[in-house]
Amino acid sequence: MRPKIAAGNWKMNGTAASLAELHSLATGLPENPPQVVICPPSTLLFRATDATHGSPIQIGAQDCHTEGAGAYTGDISATMVADSGATHVILGHSERRDAYGETDADVAAKAQAAWDAGLTAIICIGESEADRSAGTTLDVIAQQLAGSLPDGCTGENTVVAYEPIWAIGTGKIPTLEQIVEVHDFIRATLAERFGTDVSDALRLLYGGSVKPDNAAEIFKVDNVDGALIGGASLTPADFVPILQALSAT
Ligand code: 13P
Repeated sequence: MRPKIAAGNWKMNGTAASLAELHSLATGLPENPPQVVICPPSTLLFRATDATHGSPIQIGAQDCHTEGAGAYTGDISATMVADSGATHVILGHSERRDAYGETDADVAAKAQAAWDAGLTAIICIGESEADRSAGTTLDVIAQQLAGSLPDGCTGENTVVAYEPIWAIGTGKIPTLEQIVEVHDFIRATLAERFGTDVSDALRLLYGGSVKPDNAAEIFKVDNVDGALIGGASLTPADFVPILQALSAT
């Protein structure tokens, strides 16, 4: 049995006042919570690890550079993320692939840097609406998996998040059949490349418009081991019911 995991991606939301949300989340966790990772903006990483100290909540960053240090204005390295006490880093989110032109090779190099710093990489993949209409979803997923995951992937150092771009922040979600198809395909593709021991251990998250009212049915899908949640991770009022749904599966 793979341990369930819920990761909250705060994106570019949150100031010091938002640390109060972390306190109430820490005190409001359901019994037997799944693994919970909150990824605030980088300005809050140190304070977020302080605020959740002693609770089961782990903290992650939303990106990191491939290099450990150097002349890269505005970037943060995986070493810096780990220095903050964070344990995870989201990589290859479609918003970064789209806005900053991040390629699969960039994502793989960042994942290697994250592993070298002792972080778990949450690697995002997912098709666009155009890919889905063209019937090329599984080709796109195969290509992203092949290019974004370095050799040496394990169930400890990597989590894969399937986020159809058209479902992010739109309130649209794929049908359960579509989620089953992609998650089964991801598991099989990982098995072919890394062997079944590794693929059986890797957690696969679904992301894109996960809300309290749709979480339970998504979590019933066999190869869904949790979720990567944007908007609904910002307040415990939305996030805790999702955690409850996950721990009930
Ligand atoms: P929403 O849950 O707001 O659709 O965002 C999903 C996402 O992009 C998480 O990384």
